[in-house]
Amino acid sequence: MDAKFDNKMQYDPQNSIKISIDSLSVGMFVTAIEQSKRVNLSNAGRVSNINAIAQLKNSGVKFVWVDQSLSDKACDFVSPIIDVEPAPAIESGVSSQAKPKKQSRYTQQKRASKIIREAKGLAQKLISQTFEGKVIHVDAIEEWADDVIDSVLIDSDAMHCVSALRNKDKYLLEHSVNVACLLVSFGKHLGLSKETLKQLAIGGIIHDVGKIKVDDKVLNKPAKLTPEEFEHIKLHQVYAKQIITNVKGLSDVSRDVCLMHHEKLDGTGYPSGLAGDQLPIHGRMSSIVDIYDALTADRCYKRGMSSAEAFKILLSLSGHHLDKDLVYKFINCIGVYPVGSIVELNDGRIGIVWTSNHDEPLKPEVKCFYSRRFKRYIEVSYVDLKHSSAKIDKAVAPHNLEIDPTPFFDL
Ligand SMILES: [Fe+2]
Ligand SMILES: [Fe+2]
Repeated sequence: MDAKFDNKMQYDPQNSIKISIDSLSVGMFVTAIEQSKRVNLSNAGRVSNINAIAQLKNSGVKFVWVDQSLSDKACDFVSPIIDVEPAPAIESGVSSQAKPKKQSRYTQQKRASKIIREAKGLAQKLISQTFEGKVIHVDAIEEWADDVIDSVLIDSDAMHCVSALRNKDKYLLEHSVNVACLLVSFGKHLGLSKETLKQLAIGGIIHDVGKIKVDDKVLNKPAKLTPEEFEHIKLHQVYAKQIITNVKGLSDVSRDVCLMHHEKLDGTGYPSGLAGDQLPIHGRMSSIVDIYDALTADRCYKRGMSSAEAFKILLSLSGHHLDKDLVYKFINCIGVYPVGSIVELNDGRIGIVWTSNHDEPLKPEVKCFYSRRFKRYIEVSYVDLKHSSAKIDKAVAPHNLEIDPTPFFDL
């Protein structure tokens, strides 16, 4: 459908309405389609000819979301609309220059901070409840999952920026929340349905719940584990199996995320040694995301890797352990310079990758705050590399930075 649409327009998901495919006409600007009860957010653009509509009908599309303000003025929006409801939130992916973005990014980032704070509270509660042997109810997690999905769909940059800041003392909480958020982003990138995104988020939050029964000393050992210790760590998945039988209303997708994130394609993983086709996509996604987050996290005993280094390792594991195709898609989804990572520009300025640029991923918007050349803080500026002669020289791991970037993650 890309070929039939002009794809570069800016649109606001809030302006979209849902209409029947029979009401779609040439000139209307489509922001999402519904196919087999799934909403696909990945294609957007103006319908340029009648064939595009026929193609959508042929592929089973029954409803589409349309942005009236971006559609041709001549389009008839009065008579044919049979079903109007708020559009699914869609990330606009437009550049920082042309919209009142700081305001909305501000709102979104505040919202993302709140959601992540709540998620940590929620994960903490789950851990205590499990510890006390109480039955866990999914309802509370579901509510949170809805929020995180909305947030990621509206502005995933804001969410990534907030979750890039983590507290290494609370690793298990941060890791669970990050795995949940990354799974939602990855699922969105793959065009999975909103309901599936929700189940992925729930699975992410609970995926390592079995670790509460693992010996803390082994869990946080600041050195390589002995074979016995590794066997002990592996037990967290045996415990997880027992624990989630006590979780009311858990879907298969969430269960797969929880129980398959250490399985490997060649059958050498644990706890069940599942292989190949026995591993559904959600299980495969969860192992990629779990490894990526563990590699990039700072722990009390090790420094987190840069995304690029972590990608290299994911690629080296792909084929026999990880699904190669999904690894490539994940790298694409995160981007070479993920939002929230630190970069050095070729003029010595240091900044946080602030807004991704889907058309030219190597030219994101960077929030600069320090000059390595002059060894001092500089006035904060948002540099859109798409419209600047500056370039990213390299990614900088936060621990290799001579200053603390933490305050600059705030707006
Ligand atoms: Fe795990
Ligand atoms: Fe994990």
